[in-house]
Amino acid sequence: MAQNDWKKAVVYQIYPKSFNDTTGNGEGDINGIIEKLDYLQFLGVDYLWLTPVYESPMNDNGYDISDYYKINDRFGNIDDLKSLIEQAHQRDLKIMLDIVINHTSTEHEWFKQAYSSVDNPYRDYYFFRRSANDAPPTNWESKFGGNAWKFDPETETYYLHLFDVTQADLNWDNPQVRSELYDIINYWIDFGVDGFRFDVINLISKGEFKNSEKIGKEFYTDGPRVHDYLHEMNRHTFGDKDMMTVGEMSSTTIDHCIKYTNPERQELSSVFNFHHLKVDYVDGEKWSNAKLDFVKLKEILMEWQLGIYEGKGWNAIFWCNHDQPRVVSRFGDDTTEDLRIRSGKMLAIALHMLQGTPYIYQGEEIGMTDPHFTSIEQYRDVESLNAYQNMQNKGYDEADIIEILGQKSRDNSRTPVQWTNERNAGFSTGTPWIELPNNYNTINVEAAIADKNSILYVYKKLIELRHKHDIVTYGSIEPLYMDDEHLFIYKRHYNDETWLVITNFSKSTIALPKDLNIEGKVVLQNGECNNGTIDGFGAIVIAQ
Ligand code: GLC
Repeated sequence: MAQNDWKKAVVYQIYPKSFNDTTGNGEGDINGIIEKLDYLQFLGVDYLWLTPVYESPMNDNGYDISDYYKINDRFGNIDDLKSLIEQAHQRDLKIMLDIVINHTSTEHEWFKQAYSSVDNPYRDYYFFRRSANDAPPTNWESKFGGNAWKFDPETETYYLHLFDVTQADLNWDNPQVRSELYDIINYWIDFGVDGFRFDVINLISKGEFKNSEKIGKEFYTDGPRVHDYLHEMNRHTFGDKDMMTVGEMSSTTIDHCIKYTNPERQELSSVFNFHHLKVDYVDGEKWSNAKLDFVKLKEILMEWQLGIYEGKGWNAIFWCNHDQPRVVSRFGDDTTEDLRIRSGKMLAIALHMLQGTPYIYQGEEIGMTDPHFTSIEQYRDVESLNAYQNMQNKGYDEADIIEILGQKSRDNSRTPVQWTNERNAGFSTGTPWIELPNNYNTINVEAAIADKNSILYVYKKLIELRHKHDIVTYGSIEPLYMDDEHLFIYKRHYNDETWLVITNFSKSTIALPKDLNIEGKVVLQNGECNNGTIDGFGAIVIAQ
């Protein structure tokens, strides 16, 4: 990869708690990441994004930060992080930290001060509001369930928490808050990191505090001053440095994402949006059990591909992260080994040939599956536990709840990385904080490395292709046969080159469209594509 060319980069996401445990306490740590750097270098990725490793009570696994300048001792210490950065750099790997600045933990010193009395100077760091009739100031819902305002009987006020009650929203309209946050970012820049992922960053500018007809999103999503704040943050922190940034955008729009990422506006490098991962929600409701609407999935992906590309913005492309179920279980098929491998490879090709920066979530590259938990006792995530409670209150059957959690829970992707076929998949010598799926005998990194036909080598090849061929990064995209119910077909064009990508999302052999010209040189292939058909979960990339 050309030096500094972040657009050609592939990012690997690490969820440290579940990556690799070197202390035997059942949770991963920073030294565990260092141990696996050779593997990540072998895979060929460019950036490692670490989800939060700062001091935190861990009510939301680190997305509730109590001190932005300290490392959580469950993960190690500041020297470990320094050494991770140094050792990563020696291998040409760059490090991105996760910056969670829409909210802090209620255990952060600012919040403790703010909460202590109504006239404390930190009061205005957060949103404390009184209401006329003792009811919450608005009817907004927390993303983790329940009203988004928490009552403090002592002062008879409420504070805003769009997520857990222990994650209080920061008041970005207060210039002092913004200045403190920029100091934090600059501290980590000076420390030596190469980029940042900004957590739910499009929620930072709250509009009016009014009751909503729905759940309140319209008052704070892509809020009134969000672009001003991001531009200001860019100018005060990473803007003049060679850094890659990605913003996590909740329920956003293409127009806003063009603004967030068009370089002329000096906000962020790239954005995550989640619309394509809501195709198995029912009327926007996550806690429901719906099948994939494949045509809809294609429509959404292509709308974003074309919209962002033509608007000169930049997409981050991904199937998986620590908040999503495993893609091979979700849009592929993990019911047999053969189907898992074929669909895992097909999904990788379908995504990595798109335009934008691809993200690989730990374990995705070996086709890790959901754990298929059978009891609520096995779940750990605050969002899942709240959802369980809510569904129980609504009178759902236990079996249905377990099925829905099995399909949607964030814990699906949080089980430990399966390294070997030894005890606890080589993740820990202690008791893992969350159970592992029972398939690590066959699905593990060691086995994947030993088998040249494993999913891992398809990921490795896709990364190489991106580094070698500019068409993958810079080419425009042309959607084809959008109504087809099984095939996802598109072309990439760059200068006088054209690449055709055909992927089959069905497990059956499917006839190719009659008028599709598949002549050319095969760049990469999964399964057979001949006599006018493509194998179940087949995929082929052809240079034409
Ligand atoms: C983001 C994170 C998620 C976290 C939430 C609140 O969506 O990815 O894990 O719970 O923000 O910080």
